[in-house]
Amino acid sequence: MFIAILGFGTVGSGVMEVIEKNADRIAQNAAQEIKVKYIVDVRDFPGNPYESLIVKDFSVVENDPEVKTVVETIGGTGVAYDFTRRCLLAGKNVVTSNKELVATHGHELIEIAKQKNINYLFEASVGGGIPILRPITQCLAANKIDDVYGILNGTTNYILTEMIANGTSFDDALKAAQKMGYAEADPTADIEGHDACRKICILSALCFGRHMYPQDVPTQGITGVKAADVENASRIDCKIKLLGRAIHYGDKVAAYVAPHLVSRRNLISSVEGVMNGIVVRGNAIGDVMFYGAGAGKYPTASAVVADVIDAAKHLAARKYIGWEDGGPEYVYPAELVESRWYVRCGAEESAVKAAFGDAEFIDGAAGGQCAFVTGSMSKKAVDELAAGLDARTVLRMLD
Ligand code: HSE
Repeated sequence: MFIAILGFGTVGSGVMEVIEKNADRIAQNAAQEIKVKYIVDVRDFPGNPYESLIVKDFSVVENDPEVKTVVETIGGTGVAYDFTRRCLLAGKNVVTSNKELVATHGHELIEIAKQKNINYLFEASVGGGIPILRPITQCLAANKIDDVYGILNGTTNYILTEMIANGTSFDDALKAAQKMGYAEADPTADIEGHDACRKICILSALCFGRHMYPQDVPTQGITGVKAADVENASRIDCKIKLLGRAIHYGDKVAAYVAPHLVSRRNLISSVEGVMNGIVVRGNAIGDVMFYGAGAGKYPTASAVVADVIDAAKHLAARKYIGWEDGGPEYVYPAELVESRWYVRCGAEESAVKAAFGDAEFIDGAAGGQCAFVTGSMSKKAVDELAAGLDARTVLRMLD
């Protein structure tokens, strides 16, 4: 099968290298040779070993009937959206790692693939190299899933791990993550939680069957997490982790992204560095956790090339993967989801007791400020009660 790669950045070049390096094994698994015919990129790559494959004009790929599958590793929802639609409409399978595109237009693109009896596959869009989307749709297909949560962004987990374990500054840890090819082109998407938001949208759609749009997912990144919070978390045997979560409530779903204080008893707390960890709760299996490299050139390429192989094996028929459309009527307000909360504030203990009653105070809280853990309540309730307490940080707890 001839393929083309759109976008020759970190992931696109990783895909090319993996296809070359593991050609025999890939041919065996796909029952045919996988050959890259074109690489589309507007940039020049003088001296690159694959320079002869580079074309700047996408229509060369679009109009070549020999190209049966296209790998989209451009990213974003601009030209990547246009090219993906055109490939699908031209009857070519599309394989991608582009979580933003799947989270924003996934339902529409899957519908086009369905009409054309081809595949739009995106295993690499969540969890980097971790097999997670197929296990949800295939191996866990007998379960009703009611909860899915996890560490979905390698860059922020790397930053938090470096800050907690080595006392590295936020800025230095971010620079290192960028250097290793983990961060998005604009790392704001990582540190403000938007990347994790896109991934929880995709997980939610696959687990619960309807599209969850990013604008319906309240999203908080890690920039508000202070050293005092890291220290306080450690005093009560917790670690701070950025989690995305989607929970089923009747015929609605609540989804959100936020930093949490995770108990060290929860396996997710031991997911460190660039690793991702995802827990899926099914009514037959109970909790199952997926763990592995969540970002990086080769782990992501591993998942992309696996989808290329799958596309090659299903040239004559579409694989079933997809969901119904969603919308605001499908969204359960995340602010009503109950949990315990960690609060650091400038108020006296007496004022906290008057507001929260059963608060558990953290002895010797960092920075001489008052820090405590509440009983179970909604975000709406904790925000109302903390409003008069000069609250500096309010974070969900996960046991
Ligand atoms: N920037 C992303 C991350 C890349 O750090 O997880 C993988 O999706």
